[in-house]
Amino acid sequence: MRIHTLLGLESSCDDTAAAVVRGTPGRAEVLSSVVEGQTGLHAQFGGVVPEIAARAHAERMDIVVRRALDEAGLDLGGIDAVAVTAGPGLIGGVMSGVMCAKGIAAGAGLPLIGVNHLAGHALTPRLTDGVAYPYLMLLVSGGHCQFLLVRGPEDFTRLGGTIDDAPGEAFDKTARLLALPQPGGPSVEAEASRGDAARLRFPRPLLDREGCDMSFSGLKTALLRTRDSLMDNGQLRAQDRSDLCAGFQQAVVDVLVEKTRRALALYLAEGPEVPMVAVAGGVAANKAIRAGLETVSAEMGVGFVAPPLALCTDNGAMIAYAGLERFAGGARDDMTLAARPRWPLDRAAAGMLGGGKKGPKA
Ligand code: KG4
Ligand code: ZN
Repeated sequence: MRIHTLLGLESSCDDTAAAVVRGTPGRAEVLSSVVEGQTGLHAQFGGVVPEIAARAHAERMDIVVRRALDEAGLDLGGIDAVAVTAGPGLIGGVMSGVMCAKGIAAGAGLPLIGVNHLAGHALTPRLTDGVAYPYLMLLVSGGHCQFLLVRGPEDFTRLGGTIDDAPGEAFDKTARLLALPQPGGPSVEAEASRGDAARLRFPRPLLDREGCDMSFSGLKTALLRTRDSLMDNGQLRAQDRSDLCAGFQQAVVDVLVEKTRRALALYLAEGPEVPMVAVAGGVAANKAIRAGLETVSAEMGVGFVAPPLALCTDNGAMIAYAGLERFAGGARDDMTLAARPRWPLDRAAAGMLGGGKKGPKA
């Protein structure tokens, strides 16, 4: 199979990223991957401000692309196609990336490939570990939470996912309620390691319901109530804070593990030759969650892959790689490529989610 070299651009949330990936589907390497975060720009607002993010992407993307090319030791003459996140995400940021990619493609006479951000995450185990189709994928981040059966670069079946908050969002909200630093995941995990997970019991939403759907928004209400019941003169004891974190984290682990067990059963019913499950997203950094997923996969005789964290969180390499798979399959986009705020990977499952008025985010 022919070897392709793709430039990939990512700007759907608060990371401006570009990367160069070279290879064939299932066998590719990352030549460079530059990620410029925007945490400092949004810190004082307590969350990502879409307009600020979009402006920063527009100002920085060409510089980040230049660095990615330099670090790969290439100029545009060494690139076969330009891949770009065309959604889902914050529309201003996605537009910044798409406009920049169109400019590069038009200027250098290169093909343009639009990539679904979630496909980028979902195909990462093929980039890092050459995992063969079909495999099961659990995406868990600040914005996503879903089980995907991945059969091909454009063939995804959504087995279930959150009906409200993503787990990363729940970690971030928990940190806010307990006056711990953002992002909440690492700080809640650190606190939890000093706590007793059995002392304070939190709900495991939807665990009694069939299927792979999850819910995490009720957890923050439960946490708020328990926190207030423990407050003494408006103060929370250090041990209580740790126990709250441990109890909360255990509830998330239990839900993810049990739902993974069910998703694995559905996947195994298809009779994959070498069964594999992979995880991606910032929450995959959590050691308790990782350990729980590893245990349940081993119990069910399924291999477990967790890509290195830098490729689990938002980056340009996953976009370049997903673009490479599409490009190798003959896909091409043109100057009519549109930025899409919402773009479910599995169109058939999209209607089932019910979610917000505008339909599912992802
Ligand atoms: O994938 P990511 O970098 O960005 C997107 O949401 O797309 O994920 C960020 C999320 C944040 O909500 C953060 O709190 C969470 O991942 N996170 C963690 C941990 N590290 C990061 N959650 C739990 N435990 C962690 N160790
Ligand atoms: Zn993402």
